[in-house]
Amino acid sequence: MTNTTYQDLAQTPDLDAASTFADYPVWTHTLALPPQPLMGSTGTYELPIFLLVGHSWAQVVSHFTKPGSTILDIGCGCGKTARFLTNNQHIARYVGFDVLKLSIDWTRHYLSPATQGRFEFHHADLRNEMYNPHGTIQACDYRFPVADGSVDLAFAASLFTHLLERDCRHYLRETARVLKAGGRTIISVHMEPAPGTRYSGTEARIDVEIEFFVELAAGAGLKLIERPGDLCGQEILVFERVA
Ligand SMILES: C[S@@+](CC[C@H](N)C(=O)[O-])C[C@H]1O[C@@H](n2cnc3c(N)ncnc32)[C@H](O)[C@@H]1O
Repeated sequence: MTNTTYQDLAQTPDLDAASTFADYPVWTHTLALPPQPLMGSTGTYELPIFLLVGHSWAQVVSHFTKPGSTILDIGCGCGKTARFLTNNQHIARYVGFDVLKLSIDWTRHYLSPATQGRFEFHHADLRNEMYNPHGTIQACDYRFPVADGSVDLAFAASLFTHLLERDCRHYLRETARVLKAGGRTIISVHMEPAPGTRYSGTEARIDVEIEFFVELAAGAGLKLIERPGDLCGQEILVFERVA
């Protein structure tokens, strides 16, 4: 199994915001590691892979971060990337949101306090068949928890890989809404849709034809500026908010 579902989490006893990775203590002045099932909700139960992916994403995010930046992490999970950004002093404000309440409770408990309030995490009770089947709001109706034109850099690590097309279109529009003119967004996708389709799959895994995704982004006001290629098994694309 490579992903923990909501059901797995719901059936795990003793799992709450104060649980940490069982094999290691929480050392003074270090960040706790999430419990393994929560880690699994972001795609891997393996600690080295969790750290490698988070570290790699944080390096890419840092590459595009200017001093004084506001960063938005769309579908932040339990802070796999955020944990590697907490010491990045270029980040004035970090906002992450996710549909999995346990992840948000955990990041609020363990990550926010270490950032003197620079990092905030929000729960969005959106329905997602795999991650939040009892959610009360449709993703396509959700307004990201940041103001218009307030974000320098938004990123979505393995998030659009779980969005149905209707939700994807809405999230691209929301991303454009919150970005400053010239602001950037880094998005990862799987790029092998079913033959004869441009967008396919379920909320467990979505694939999209790259040209189609770029068209959808352009329709939302986002222009492709860089295609760095593979990052940890997904294709990443960098867009800029058109002025
Ligand atoms: C594969 S995990 C990646 C998590 C995180 N970005 C990371 O790199 O560790 C996908 C995440 O998307 C979240 N998610 C699913 N649908 C969402 C939505 N509509 N809005 C925000 N987050 C969502 C899930 O709860 C899960 O944490």
